[in-house]
Amino acid sequence: MYNVAIVGATGNVGRKFLEILDERNFPIKNLYLYASKRSAGKKMTFKGNEYTVIETCKENIEDKELDFALFSAGGDTSLEFAPIFSKIGAVVIDNSSAWRMDPKVPLVVPEVNPEDIKWHNGIIANPNCSTIQAMPVLKAIDDAYGLKRVIYSTYQAVSGAGMQGIKDLEDGLKGVKPKKFPYPIAGNCLPHIDVFLENGYTKEEMKMIQETRKILHNPDLKITATTVRVPVLNSHSESINLELNKEFEVSDIVSLLNTAKGVVVYDNIEELKYPTPLSVTGKDEVYVGRIRRDFSIDNGLNLWVVADNIRKGAALNAVQIAELMINK
Ligand code: A2P
Repeated sequence: MYNVAIVGATGNVGRKFLEILDERNFPIKNLYLYASKRSAGKKMTFKGNEYTVIETCKENIEDKELDFALFSAGGDTSLEFAPIFSKIGAVVIDNSSAWRMDPKVPLVVPEVNPEDIKWHNGIIANPNCSTIQAMPVLKAIDDAYGLKRVIYSTYQAVSGAGMQGIKDLEDGLKGVKPKKFPYPIAGNCLPHIDVFLENGYTKEEMKMIQETRKILHNPDLKITATTVRVPVLNSHSESINLELNKEFEVSDIVSLLNTAKGVVVYDNIEELKYPTPLSVTGKDEVYVGRIRRDFSIDNGLNLWVVADNIRKGAALNAVQIAELMINK
């Protein structure tokens, strides 16, 4: 049995952590729920028991004995408090982007690079939601055919922008101005997720590029990305265009993905079967459809990948990392 802390327990992903720990019967001895000062004292329930939310501060961490700290409270909170949790012996599994590209911090998708948990130094990073869902699919194809180039185009749900993201969509449908997004998201598409960088890409796009290279252990892989926020409540969709090193048959790719861990092929255009955000919300696996040849280049392949960004894209992946740690 393990002592577990959730940091950011009152947030979107924090609540999903609790749901998933419960669903998967994670062996918990003591549970501690942390948030900011604003939510300290609030009550939350887990498995029928009531818990009081604790302020995230040094004193409230150093008096505990912890095995795991699951973080989803933004990058600044992670940078400040993850080292304090890891100092008292907890393994921090962090959902923010704060530690992902640190060479001393493994970045893990359990179906793809479980071996990387071995070299952690107290912090393991959970990849960005849009990166996570592409990985089980790309890993299978990379192992069999070799990836030459990857083009990501994403259609990302507002739940990825936290509670305020969801509120902006709900308010927008009633004509209320947005607070989180710079323009209305209701009835709109915003090619702008996270901040803009000097090279003209958004930080979200650069996360997808750099994290894919780190997880697949391929630092030179050619990748480009355009990430777009769409008026969908939950689950991200991605159009992924690939150029492979070897020739392939589409039927062999389908067979390969049918056996890939954590992947469900849902692809039958005659029966109008393809994954959508509404159909995959609540599911653990990554769904792939519209598998077809890109006939504009040699060895080109098009895919449509959809997953629940709060489950597999965030909370579930983090809990699976903790499960890997206890089963290793
Ligand atoms: P709080 O409820 O106190 O604001 P979301 O991304 O869904 O909005 O959730 C963010 C989560 O991170 C919430 O649980 C929020 O707690 C928590 N959080 C935000 N800022 C801090 C902070 N400075 N210290 C600890 N937790 C924080």
